[in-house]
Amino acid sequence: MLLSLVLLGLSLLSLAIPGDLEHVERLIERLPVLSDHGITARQLHGYLSGPGPFPQNPSWEPPYPTTFDGYCAPNASQTVGTFAGPTWPSVTDLLKRNEFVTRQGTQLELLGEPFRMVGPCVYWMGLDENVIPDPSYPSKTRARVLEIMGIVSAMRGTTIRAHTLGISFGNALSVEPTPGVYNQTAYEAIDFAILAARIYGIKLMIPLVDNYNWYHGGKYQFIGWNGIEWSGTGAAITPPDVGAYFYNTTAIVDMFEAYITEHLNHVNQFTGIAYKDDPTIMAWETGNELSAVIYNDGPAPPEWTAEICGLIKSLAPNHLCVDGTYGFYPETGQLNVTEVDIFSDHFYPRDIARMQAGYALTQAADRVYLAGEWDWCGAFSSFRLCIWLTVARRTGQYGGDTIQDWLYSLFWSLFGHDDKCCLYVEHNGK
Ligand SMILES: *[C@@H]1O[C@H](CO)[C@@H](O)[C@H](O)[C@H]1NC(C)=O
Ligand SMILES: *[C@@H]1O[C@H](CO)[C@@H](O)[C@H](O)[C@H]1NC(C)=O
Ligand SMILES: *[C@@H]1O[C@H](CO)[C@@H](O)[C@H](O)[C@H]1NC(C)=O
Ligand SMILES: *[C@@H]1O[C@H](CO)[C@@H](O)[C@H](O)[C@H]1NC(C)=O
Repeated sequence: MLLSLVLLGLSLLSLAIPGDLEHVERLIERLPVLSDHGITARQLHGYLSGPGPFPQNPSWEPPYPTTFDGYCAPNASQTVGTFAGPTWPSVTDLLKRNEFVTRQGTQLELLGEPFRMVGPCVYWMGLDENVIPDPSYPSKTRARVLEIMGIVSAMRGTTIRAHTLGISFGNALSVEPTPGVYNQTAYEAIDFAILAARIYGIKLMIPLVDNYNWYHGGKYQFIGWNGIEWSGTGAAITPPDVGAYFYNTTAIVDMFEAYITEHLNHVNQFTGIAYKDDPTIMAWETGNELSAVIYNDGPAPPEWTAEICGLIKSLAPNHLCVDGTYGFYPETGQLNVTEVDIFSDHFYPRDIARMQAGYALTQAADRVYLAGEWDWCGAFSSFRLCIWLTVARRTGQYGGDTIQDWLYSLFWSLFGHDDKCCLYVEHNGK
């Protein structure tokens, strides 16, 4: 009985996923990086259509070396995913990889079960600044990305928020190096990260622009491309209110919408699935920390959020839309934007009163609340971690619902080893 259910699950999966073995063999020929790494066509086909990194036929082998010069070998039983448990995954677990996460009021569901959005932010998978040369695509062998998926899976994380899978503007390594030009080379790393998440049964939340000017680009690239001058790095931009042009100038909004349209229509070279159709992607976020008032340019206008989420939903009707505004501004009508599924806030420091206030607002608006980043390391003077976690748990439990027993939250942030396995890659050397 169990076996036949498993087989039924497998056959349903292979129906749902494009790419027969022959197709995958051709793919492998075109992508020497996979065969160089010892991934066979049969294995890749298994990842795409079958149970992923579980005992199976052929049996799962970590796709990276488990010894490095005889020392510091990753422990395969720790780094290889345990998404569905150490033995056979259940049919339900298999099917979840092909299902979209949906929203029911204030809750998320996957295959009719509550979906707990919990995990890390891993911002560097499309392009990394913490390696030499800075920036570079994360890994020629993809070992870093696969390891991160294994770590998240072993932590029982369900979700990764992944900035550089959507934010990629303004330098030669970007998806959009110059206006209207899309660089297919930049898509290799992004496509691979999405494949890797799929293999491990992890869902992705992807911001589409950044409020700041970091190495991967953001709203200021679009502003500059339209002939408006500015200068500066990160959040220190002159003139300080120049960011408002991103929302109030039709030509700039059009340019951003053209990027979104290109990106969501992109077909993943490893899976053959267009981003807009991929159940691995749970949600698109209109941006990262958009228009924090502390930087003088006001919250993202609700009309703009409605338009961007409307576009996302017209392209990808099965995906959710996250309002990328940094925090809550109910007086602007932010919570009245019906196209938004998820509202979020970030916490530097961890601030319980602010979290509970935002949570109450989303419950009243019948939408999902997300603590989309929070200060895991305690770099800012904060409530103690255990108090934050306990209150986060209770806020979910006693917030007027019975299904959600944990606040949806994604911590900042997660790094693993470098490509050679033995050294940790550290964020800005910290
Ligand atoms: C690898 O990890 C597993 C699970 O934590 C542990 O039981 C095992 O002893 C570890 N193996 C090595 C070689 O460290
Ligand atoms: C596309 O990306 C590759 C490598 O990532 C780079 O060498 C090339 O110059 C880029 N092309 C453009 C038009 O920027
Ligand atoms: C757009 O924002 C800029 C910068 O704050 C401002 O100078 C300009 O007047 C605004 N334009 C419109 C049409 O509101
Ligand atoms: C948002 O909707 C609520 C309820 O319909 C309404 O009372 C409020 O005035 C609206 N806010 C704005 C700024 O439009």
